Amino acid sequence: MCESRVNAPDAGQRGETTRILLDCDTGIDDALAILYLAGLEGVSIVAAGSVHGNVPAPLGALNTLRVLELAGLDDVPVAVGAARPMAQPLQTAEFVHGEDGLGNIHWPMPRRRPSAEPAAQQIVRLAREQPGELVLLAIGPLTNLGLALLLEPELPRLLRRVVVMGGAVYRAGNATADAEANVWHDPEAAELALGAGWPLTLVGLDVTMQVSLAGDALAELQAASSAVGRFAWSILQHYLAFYESYYGARMCHLHDPLAAGIAVDSSLARYRRTPVHVELRGERTRGATRGSLPWWLNPPSGEPEVEVAVEVDAERFVRGFLDVLAGARAP
Ligand code: BDR
Ligand code: CA
Repeated sequence: MCESRVNAPDAGQRGETTRILLDCDTGIDDALAILYLAGLEGVSIVAAGSVHGNVPAPLGALNTLRVLELAGLDDVPVAVGAARPMAQPLQTAEFVHGEDGLGNIHWPMPRRRPSAEPAAQQIVRLAREQPGELVLLAIGPLTNLGLALLLEPELPRLLRRVVVMGGAVYRAGNATADAEANVWHDPEAAELALGAGWPLTLVGLDVTMQVSLAGDALAELQAASSAVGRFAWSILQHYLAFYESYYGARMCHLHDPLAAGIAVDSSLARYRRTPVHVELRGERTRGATRGSLPWWLNPPSGEPEVEVAVEVDAERFVRGFLDVLAGARAP
């Protein structure tokens, strides 16, 4: 268990536990998201599945096990998921996350191994076993979600809520000028997931680029003495170097941790309801996510809508994140 457990506002206040079914491509910011969730009161990670993306899916599963072990969550099953996107070749992002996906720290092998069941099947099975209970938190490409929707057409009615880190609806992308990385890694799966008609919250670059770790916040993490804090600091070095080479500043965005935060406490953000489509055929814009403009320009189309996070309380989120990862409460 993380050394410090901090109360998660939504779940804590209602006295309920938020039951998270995680889908991830662990990855540096995925690892931070897992450690953050592990340190929140009122949150239970029921199971995790890996997907291609930052690293190949089998390595993503091992990294997920590594991080869960560090957090003391030795009973969370981890399934290996889709090895490649639905309609394009596999592309991974070691230049961002390191050859090992964890900033090249070459952390020891975890004690446990992934379970035999594929991740998409695990989503379907758990959703059937616990109807209306689970919050599906997807912080990697959406291939497993797409597959699970094909396996079980009733899935949208079996989940409590779906929270996706992905897309850039009203701003530029980060993988290309138009596409955010998780959507760009599998645009067809993203189009399936965004049109499924389930209660989906999209935590895209629209808000994750508003949340960064820099200056005093980095210093606070660097000073952390807990095992979790030291691990977070060590994996962050590669991520920070990548950001510095790109932005020329010592900082990074907290994409996946913010999605985790919003999955637990929706009051962190403000939302706009709109259908969101993924550009699948654009010669230069494949993977772009586009929503509608306000109703007076785009009358309601009757298509399934999602909730796009458009504004976030960045200060409150970063404070809560540091409370868990650095184990220190604000004075
Ligand atoms: C997303 O892409 C990945 O590199 C990160 O882990 C995050 O899920 C941000 O665009
Ligand atoms: Ca990720």
